[in-house]
Amino acid sequence: MISDRVLRELTNLLGPENIVTRRDDLIPYASDATHLSYMPDAVAFPGNAQDISRILVLANQEEFPVIPRGGGSGKSGGALPVRGGLVLSMDRFNRILLIDPINLIAKVETGVITSVLQEEVEKLDLFYPPDPASIKICTIGGNVAENAGGLRAVKYGVTRDYVLGMTAVLPTGEIIKAGVETAKGVVGYDLTRLLVGSEGTLAVITDVILRLIPKPASTRTMMALFHTVSAAVETVSEITRHKIIPTALELMDRLCIDCVRSELGMSLPPQCGALLLIEVDGDKALTKREAERIREICLQSGAMEFMAASRKREAEKLWEARRNVSAAVYKLRPDKVSEDVVVPRSRMAELSSFLDALGRKYNLSIAAYGHAGDGNIHVNILFDKNAPEETRKVDEVVRELFRKVLEAKGTISGEHGIGLTKAPYLDMEMSRPAIELMARIKLAFDPKGILNPGKIFPYRS
Ligand code: LAC
Ligand code: ZN
Repeated sequence: MISDRVLRELTNLLGPENIVTRRDDLIPYASDATHLSYMPDAVAFPGNAQDISRILVLANQEEFPVIPRGGGSGKSGGALPVRGGLVLSMDRFNRILLIDPINLIAKVETGVITSVLQEEVEKLDLFYPPDPASIKICTIGGNVAENAGGLRAVKYGVTRDYVLGMTAVLPTGEIIKAGVETAKGVVGYDLTRLLVGSEGTLAVITDVILRLIPKPASTRTMMALFHTVSAAVETVSEITRHKIIPTALELMDRLCIDCVRSELGMSLPPQCGALLLIEVDGDKALTKREAERIREICLQSGAMEFMAASRKREAEKLWEARRNVSAAVYKLRPDKVSEDVVVPRSRMAELSSFLDALGRKYNLSIAAYGHAGDGNIHVNILFDKNAPEETRKVDEVVRELFRKVLEAKGTISGEHGIGLTKAPYLDMEMSRPAIELMARIKLAFDPKGILNPGKIFPYRS
């Protein structure tokens, strides 16, 4: 609990307009996309790195938790104040400082909304590929902290692949620069890569240097319908076997299709058990050729129907429906645990049969969709938290799922991070010495453990 005296100090430091303490005003900062809720004692709206530095020095002195927060769209509870304390909203870090078309970089404050940056760079025929489904509300800082992926990761990689450098405030208050503003740089340990994906536990990142690429000249969006998920994911393997790497290669199972059926904007046959949304980009001749080849591969692999979006609006509608799946599956049950496991592409069919069996064994609905091109499947375990016979089973279902994924040489999290919700399972994937090494790194950055405590680590070290 932050004392009134310390709250007064914070108010003096930031100005009364940049600190919130009234309970009603704190409520929006208590929750995120996990729908879990933990009340903070206060929310601060710092305006620059020096403000953050002063807050962190005070936090060390008075020992209260500080929890950095971007758009609040996190799926693993990374921004939740599990032990109370001060939520550090990055809302005021909302400036795009530079878009440089010669050196192909952007310098961006970390509170900038991801879609806003994309629109700005695209005006200059440049491209910033990472596109999490929450693109219209998530921030670059949140993306960097979680190393977010997205729909285009199959061809273009994830956030990490675009972060060249950054300014960060250490938990003890020092402001550092990590990485470079150039295309290359190998000086010292790669602190940039360490901080990307550190889930707000090692530093508060205030601006980043991002790599840009030229904007592809054209895109084509397609949809293929299948009787079963297995047939759909076998087709994904066929597409890569033919040396085609689409921009996006997304899967929805029957339950997910039902949740966004009306939004897709076309009537789908009732016997459709899975769909793939596919996009290719590049120069016009290439996308035409690849789209034609993909059509042949889908039909040869048993697609019951194949459609190509003929207009931009039609394609946008399909992608909007896809981006909405995560929220739409709440139509099925009031609560869900949403995972982001990854398996090698070639083992997705095996994962899909496993999920069918898992749902039957525990008598719970499991909806699966996601980035099939990456083998990254969002497994949504649906339940009602008011039904104890259902909630009791969820942890065991998650453990069985993770055991299967690890046995298949996969990973328990491809893009949402460990945060709060997956911390109890971290040691299923990482060995004790590896976790202890991470704990020593955490201690070196944050000796008093004030920055985003209660995240990532499965036990207190
Ligand atoms: C998605 C989010 C949940 O892909 O990662 O929809
Ligand atoms: Zn995703």
